Amino acid sequence: MATSNRTGIASIGVQLPPLALSVEDLARIRGVDPNKFTVGLGCREIALCPEGWDAATLAVGAARRALSRWNGDLSRIGMIVVGTESAKDMSRPLSAFVAEELGLSGAIRSYEVKHACYGGTLALRQALEWRWSGAARGKAALVIASDVALYALEDGGEPTQGAGAVAFVVDEPHVAHVDVDTYAYAEPAFDFWRPVGQLFPSVQGQLSLDCYKKAAASCFREMVGDRDARSVLGEYHSASFHVPFPKMVVKAVQAVGEELGLSAEETKTFFDSKVDPTMVWNRRAGNCYTAALWLSVAHALAGRKTGEKLLAFSYGSGFGAELLSITAGELAEQGAWVADVEADLAGRTLCSAERYLELRKDHVGKK
Ligand code: COA
Repeated sequence: MATSNRTGIASIGVQLPPLALSVEDLARIRGVDPNKFTVGLGCREIALCPEGWDAATLAVGAARRALSRWNGDLSRIGMIVVGTESAKDMSRPLSAFVAEELGLSGAIRSYEVKHACYGGTLALRQALEWRWSGAARGKAALVIASDVALYALEDGGEPTQGAGAVAFVVDEPHVAHVDVDTYAYAEPAFDFWRPVGQLFPSVQGQLSLDCYKKAAASCFREMVGDRDARSVLGEYHSASFHVPFPKMVVKAVQAVGEELGLSAEETKTFFDSKVDPTMVWNRRAGNCYTAALWLSVAHALAGRKTGEKLLAFSYGSGFGAELLSITAGELAEQGAWVADVEADLAGRTLCSAERYLELRKDHVGKK
């Protein structure tokens, strides 16, 4: 199906929190060889929220930045939707906290979407499909993926923690077109979940890796169909994946390569040239759940020439996944949102592991 010409991503805003911890420092207090976190998992830094910061603060920051680059008036926003798994409330949507800060009210559909790390992608798809359907009646949507990823202290996932938000205005496709066609896969599993009232997630690490690999292989197989895999992949300048931690992406790409019949060398070339370069910001932010894929896409889009194509593979535990195809618009090349990340990285404090423990003192002994 053809891409709709007048709908897509009109602007992007990114927000990272003002604190971070190096995984090497975390390894020191955990008595672990730092190479396990840096080489074994591919992690570098964990973005942390200091007191007073949470998923709503990050969402508001990213939204303000996206709105500031959009040439429309706030009265044209007819939908605000937040994908998150860091909800503040079981009833009140995170979008209401954000709308309050932004002064957005009136004839607006406002809600939250949950499907683990896949929620941001679903929010974006719903906004695009709302526009494509005609139900938007020309209005624009504000879409935000925002999360704070924290595990129980000393959990295996601790070095993969992180935080961040990415916001989009969905309106005219100045930054990017998103193809109407997508390739989805879902299968019920308990690979990563957080029961109501439980502070931190329960994770079956190996199972989550197996589910992620299966989902990636299935979605890519569906996209390629009976066409030649090499020429299909060759159409794309980059391929972004959901990034719980970079090693997980390495393994998923291997699974995709095997599924598509690529040699180990071809898979490595694909990973090195089109996947690995997209994870630069993810290594500085850590896992930011719903925002992780979109941080990678934002990095990959910046500097792209009009018409260049990108892949985006979204995965959410539970589990559901979707593979999207994106085409750079005329504002991608200038990549205005790079300034957000550069400012946040330059302005943030790298804290000591001791300060990290102080920040988490209320979490001792808690699941
Ligand atoms: N130097 C280099 N590499 C080392 C090492 C060292 N000293 N020690 C261990 N490693 C490597 C291991 O070989 C392994 O790599 P491999 O999988 O390629 O073989 C990697 O580091 C991790 O080691 P492992 O023993 O498996 O770690 P773990 O039992 O602590 O758990 C996870 C790792 C991934 C299971 C854990 O971090 C986790 O649960 N993370 C969260 C999972 C998640 O985010 N799921 C969400 C899905 S979207």
